[in-house]
Amino acid sequence: MPINIDINRIRVVIIDKIVHETPTVKTIVFKDRLSSEAKPGQFLMVWIPRGEELPMSVMVPDRKDKNNKDSAALTIRKHGYGSTLLFDKRPGDILGVRGPYGNEFKIGQNKKVLLVGGGTGLVPLMRLARKLNSNKIDTTIIIGARTKEEVFFERMANDLLRDTRHQVIVTTEDGSYGEKGYATDAMARLVDGGKQERSRKNAKFDCVYTCGPELMMKKVYDLAASASLPVQASLERYMKCGIGICSSCCIGDQLVCRDGTIYNERQLSTMAEFGRMYRDKSGRRVPY
Ligand SMILES: Cc1cc2nc3c(=O)[nH]c(=O)nc-3n(C[C@H](O)[C@H](O)[C@H](O)COP(=O)(O)OP(=O)(O)OC[C@H]3O[C@@H](n4cnc5c(N)ncnc54)[C@H](O)[C@@H]3O)c2cc1C
Ligand code: FES
Repeated sequence: MPINIDINRIRVVIIDKIVHETPTVKTIVFKDRLSSEAKPGQFLMVWIPRGEELPMSVMVPDRKDKNNKDSAALTIRKHGYGSTLLFDKRPGDILGVRGPYGNEFKIGQNKKVLLVGGGTGLVPLMRLARKLNSNKIDTTIIIGARTKEEVFFERMANDLLRDTRHQVIVTTEDGSYGEKGYATDAMARLVDGGKQERSRKNAKFDCVYTCGPELMMKKVYDLAASASLPVQASLERYMKCGIGICSSCCIGDQLVCRDGTIYNERQLSTMAEFGRMYRDKSGRRVPY
């Protein structure tokens, strides 16, 4: 495969705008043509000057912003060293980006789909929602959060899916907003453990797309399997190079940065580490 030099070159971008989503989540908007063309599920390697380089999914910029040509966005949860440096950035500050990298969520012939996301795992699902909307695909999205204060992208999801039949379901673990419980509880109710209709023609969904904490995705995968539903999950592994050289993101014989990040149910079924363990910065296996 020819190497695309443009995407591998670090591009310096200037932060145009910052949106406060929750007390610990912000969206950073910037202009970069290649990032704005990212496919749903692709990620960037984001260099924070004098700091770290981190993998980050590409978010959609606000559609109502008239000046959004070539705009892309990142949505960051403040966590440790690198994400806090990014979280603390201001308009006018600079970042370096390379990519977009990775494969994309595939829509194929699907006509009615279910999206299940938690935390910043919702970011690639928003880019997917925009595409589902333009393809007029019936979409149900479940947004999982711990508590009301941590719910974000509910309005964004409704807006992105405005031209197609859709439903946005929010779950909170403490019941302070939306349905009480986990996102996977809402999914279990919707797919009814597969008891409803096993025949594809009458099934409620053609495919499930998921991104979020891996234990949540494992549960989504199990529920989908019990209902004979195809699934596509976007996996996260520790990434250093982002381009298939260093092997820090391996899961079995797969390099998640190069071969993923999105895997289907057949591929997931062969991954002994999926939902069981991850690798830390040194490559050591750590159980979930
Ligand atoms: C493909 C992909 C897309 C991502 N998209 C987003 C996103 O849209 N928004 C968001 O907030 N976060 C996203 N992340 C997670 C993000 O890259 C960082 O892992 C997270 O922000 C924590 O970094 P930290 O330096 O603050 O944490 P630290 O406290 O330094 O590390 C905490 C944990 O974060 C993980 N981590 C740290 N550095 C990396 C790295 N280079 N690669 C992978 N994992 C790492 C490790 O599991 C580590 O144990 C994504 C990760 C991947 C792999
Ligand atoms: S991050 Fe280096 S091979 Fe994937």
